[in-house]
Amino acid sequence: MLTVDQLKGLKGKVVIVRVDFNVPLKDGKVRDDNRVRAALPTIQKLLSEGARVVLLSHLGKVKHKEAPEVVAEQKAKNNMEIVVPTLAGLLNKEVAFSKATRGPEFEAAVKALKDGEVLLVQNTRYEKGEEKNDPELSKDWAKVADAYVMDAFGSAHRAHASTYGIPEILKAEGKPVACGYLVEKEISNLMRCVDVKKEDRPYVAILGGLKVSDKIKVIDSLLKKCDKILIGGAMAYTFKKALGFETGTSPVELDQLDYARKCLEEAKGKIVLPVDSVVTDAFEGWTKKEVVKDNVPEGYQGMDIGPATEKLFAEEISKAKMVFWNGPMGVFEQKDFASGTISICKAVASLKGCFSVCGGGDSAAAIKEFGYKESFSHVSTGGGASLEMIENDGHLPGVDILK
Ligand code: 3PG
Repeated sequence: MLTVDQLKGLKGKVVIVRVDFNVPLKDGKVRDDNRVRAALPTIQKLLSEGARVVLLSHLGKVKHKEAPEVVAEQKAKNNMEIVVPTLAGLLNKEVAFSKATRGPEFEAAVKALKDGEVLLVQNTRYEKGEEKNDPELSKDWAKVADAYVMDAFGSAHRAHASTYGIPEILKAEGKPVACGYLVEKEISNLMRCVDVKKEDRPYVAILGGLKVSDKIKVIDSLLKKCDKILIGGAMAYTFKKALGFETGTSPVELDQLDYARKCLEEAKGKIVLPVDSVVTDAFEGWTKKEVVKDNVPEGYQGMDIGPATEKLFAEEISKAKMVFWNGPMGVFEQKDFASGTISICKAVASLKGCFSVCGGGDSAAAIKEFGYKESFSHVSTGGGASLEMIENDGHLPGVDILK
């Protein structure tokens, strides 16, 4: 696989860069510019070489099967133009914007670029064919490009027109396709959690979040790779229920109980579950909050791991030479239930000589919010992508196509 450093003779060449500017928005503005910052080294490198840089990214969801007014609403909410001031500010240069995603207006905007200039294109998901990897759409994009750089790690698990279709066409035409610095960095860090070396053991995975069903493949894969898997968050209650404990009104996936039982059996002690919980009498507007041991009483639901679990998990983490974490331990957005997630941050922060990876998504947001970003060896920009990398032994469609 070529890297952006290996692309030569870029002056005057149109390079399509697939970035992941799927950033959180608030009141029509970028709430967290982390993903834009993460793409800057690649963009700056290409601009410094005199390339004409065309940036493609999706933003949010546009569900084309919905009624036209719903689609229009989703498009208005996820208008990529919102990102222009953020990018221009970070690059400290003017950023042109193409309102059109394809066709003569888009092509004219690409043509108008001079060497070392950058064009951001409207949300790729305005196009119905993007998520279907429509070959006609890929052709329309590929025809303006002399080269393609994939730097959207967060979207590399999607085989869409902009992540897969374009490089497929350019490769067939003998044009260069390469990965950007962000993708290169993400892959090398995450591969360490996939191909586990002896010196990285004990390898401890920490999983949280809502659903077991979302994490089945990653649990199965981690069971083969890890020495311990600590499971917290709402998904832990499905495992507790499978063991016969009471879970009150905690979210339990009844259709996953058999899986959870089988999983615990096969794990032979590798899976560590919470031994206590912080529970409340309602998710919102609760009036009673308690710490309970293994069983959650009727009418109560688990909101966070309890103090004994924090201690238990911290002990396991303290033995680790490598840590992979995905998913918060509780409803960390509310400060009453942030303690479990913060305790994981603290346990990782106190490790010496341990390689620690946070697999993006909510846990990455939590790390940032609680000020522990620097305590991790690597914080991924891709929640879904990093999980799929672990699940598929390092393979992602948007990366494999570059090879
Ligand atoms: C992400 O935020 O995980 C990526 O940008 C992919 O977004 P998607 O799940 O909407 O495809």
